[in-house]
Amino acid sequence: MGTPLYISRDLELDLESLIGQCVAILGIRGSGKSNTAGVIFEELLNNNYPMSIVDIEGEYFGLKEKYEVLVVGTGDGVEIEIDAGCAAEIAEVSMEKNVPVVLDLSGFLSEERTEVLMEYLSSLWNLAGTLRRPYIIGIEEAHEFIPQGVKTELKEMISRIALRGRKRGLGAIVVSQRSAKVEKDVLSQAGMLLLHRVVHEVDMRVYSELLPWRKSEVKEIIGSLETGNCIFVNGETVRPIYVRERATFHAGFTPSLEAVATPELKQVSASIIEAIERAREGRGRRTRTQELEEQLARLQEKLTQKEEKIDELEETARTLGYIKVEVPQGPPPAVVQRDCVPQEAVSVGFAPHLMGTTRCDSAEERSTARERVASETGWGVIEVAPTVPASSSSALPPAVRRHIDRLVARVERRSLLERRVLSFLFEHAPGSYTASQIAAWTHCAREMVEDELPRELLEVGLIARERRTDGLRFQSRLKTFVSDEFAVYLPDIGESGLHAVTRQLSDRLIDVP
Ligand SMILES: Nc1ncnc2c1ncn2[C@@H]1O[C@H](COP(=O)(O)OP(=O)(O)OP(=O)(O)O)[C@@H](O)[C@H]1O
Ligand SMILES: [Mg+2]
Repeated sequence: MGTPLYISRDLELDLESLIGQCVAILGIRGSGKSNTAGVIFEELLNNNYPMSIVDIEGEYFGLKEKYEVLVVGTGDGVEIEIDAGCAAEIAEVSMEKNVPVVLDLSGFLSEERTEVLMEYLSSLWNLAGTLRRPYIIGIEEAHEFIPQGVKTELKEMISRIALRGRKRGLGAIVVSQRSAKVEKDVLSQAGMLLLHRVVHEVDMRVYSELLPWRKSEVKEIIGSLETGNCIFVNGETVRPIYVRERATFHAGFTPSLEAVATPELKQVSASIIEAIERAREGRGRRTRTQELEEQLARLQEKLTQKEEKIDELEETARTLGYIKVEVPQGPPPAVVQRDCVPQEAVSVGFAPHLMGTTRCDSAEERSTARERVASETGWGVIEVAPTVPASSSSALPPAVRRHIDRLVARVERRSLLERRVLSFLFEHAPGSYTASQIAAWTHCAREMVEDELPRELLEVGLIARERRTDGLRFQSRLKTFVSDEFAVYLPDIGESGLHAVTRQLSDRLIDVP
């Protein structure tokens, strides 16, 4: 008999059975997956079992109510700020010194998130090869990292840990509300399953492959599971259980009218923080040159990917090049919005009074506008159908709205000048402008715009900078940014949802004093 874990009254489970195990926790929204995962983490923490929890919604800090868990990430609420440059060292400290870590990825943009996670998990994988000690990695929203049918470096790493970690003592707990979207190999090889309620046919099909029951039985039993109930599968054992409630605060709980007190949180001991800080500063065994070389390689890789994307988009722009004309209801001037304009047009530039968008209500107004724009610019004008109406924020799923809020909060931390530059470029997208033009429009000195380069905005890809014959030019990259950053939500919100996200971000970020 091993060390008992109290997960459910209906189940005897011992700690040893989790060593090197791949556990999958599935179910629809609100079925109790995070509670179940939280209960397993609590039981493991009661036994000082080392772990890292990859938390993309900032749900697991509540474990600190009872345990010395270190929350690392970026933004509010993290104890140690990390980035891709030091993620590997922190992972090493966690594994070597037995420090449980919540890797809170909620403050990162998706590209940074991938980089941080890749560094972190590679480091754990490599070190586990030498140490060969029990260690477990929890991954929420696993479909985002190990999507079925898509090949990425990060997915390969996570699948490797889940499928081949056993010999190194590495286990994984993958949690997902989209059973059908999680890499099938990982689910079919998982040694332990906790299957909460699902309702959709596609998810039922996945469950049917995982359970030794007839399809009709699966549908009936799974469809009637209540919150917290699930089917536990481990080898020959297949049985319904009720998972106990988490003892620590569950930040992802479904809000109710009862007041919720914020918990008192345990601080991680100073010696652990010191060890982490040392690892971060020292980045120890690597020399500064090595570190810069690695950073350079990462940036070059990013640049190549971005250049490929730009080529691809420019090709699309050439194919689709058009000008959209819309006429204001009120007095002139007419207004032009360039959505996708051929390269030559970009370098010619627009007269400022032709920027922006307003409505065009009658055929007569449209025709006047067409003539006017054609005569002023010398270009042929092609009318296009109106774009998708701006969706209200409530039409987007909560996860997308939270993502938008995080982005806006992040931009709001930038200086006023940077925000003005961004606002100007968004408002006048997709035109490209020199520092002097931006300075004139934003009422700043040109030197200020040149000296205070909006580095972060450039780095994350909200704006782009390009050298032209007349000097450096800046341009909004909002559409491309949204397509990349919100790509994971595309199956849920579709292209029109992406337009709505772009519109909302633009509206909110243009609003600068
Ligand atoms: N075993 C349980 N007993 C009592 N309440 C539970 C239990 N499991 C979950 N709940 C409650 O149900 C709600 C949803 O649970 P939880 O957040 O774990 O669901 P989830 O499946 O992770 O949802 P999501 O997909 O939205 O993350 C929470 O308020 C939680 O406290
Ligand atoms: Mg959850």
